[in-house]
Amino acid sequence: MRRIATVFTFGVALAGLTVVAPSGMTQVEAAPSAARIYASKCASCHAPDGKGNIGGTPNFRDGGWHASRSDDNLIASIRDGKGNLMPAWGKELTPAQIIALVRHVRSLKR
Ligand code: HEC
Repeated sequence: MRRIATVFTFGVALAGLTVVAPSGMTQVEAAPSAARIYASKCASCHAPDGKGNIGGTPNFRDGGWHASRSDDNLIASIRDGKGNLMPAWGKELTPAQIIALVRHVRSLKR
C-alpha cells in the first residue's frame, strides 16, 4: 500500500512537471522577436528581404506599396489571411506578435 502511495505521489509529481513544462515553453514561444517569427513562418513566401518568393506577394521593399496600406490593413490581413495564399495567423499568433510583425514588415522598406 505504501508502495502504491509512493508510485502515486511520483505520478502526480510527474504529471505536475508535464503541466509546468508546456506552459514554460509557451512563454518561451511568446518571446521570439518578430524577426525570428518572420524567418520561420513568413519568409518561405515573402523572402527574408520581403521581395517575395512566390507569385502574388506584395514587395515589402517598395515604399509605394507601404504607402498604399494602413497598419490596420496589414494587421487584419495577417490575422485573417488574404486571397488564396496568404494564411490566417490569428489562431497561432498573439495580437502583440501580429503588431510586431507589421513593424517588421514596415522595416523592410528600402
Ligand atoms: C503560403 C505563402 C505565405 C505565407 C507563409 C505568408 N504569406 Fe503573407 N501573403 C502571401 C500572399 C500571396 C499575399 C498577397 C495576398 C493578396 O494580396 O491577395 C500576402 C500578403 C501579405 C501582406 C499584405 C496584406 C495586405 O493587406 O496587403 C502582409 C502584411 C503579409 N502577407 C504578411 C505575412 C506575414 C507576417 C506572414 C508570416 C506570419 C506571412 N505573410 C506568411 C503569402 C504568404
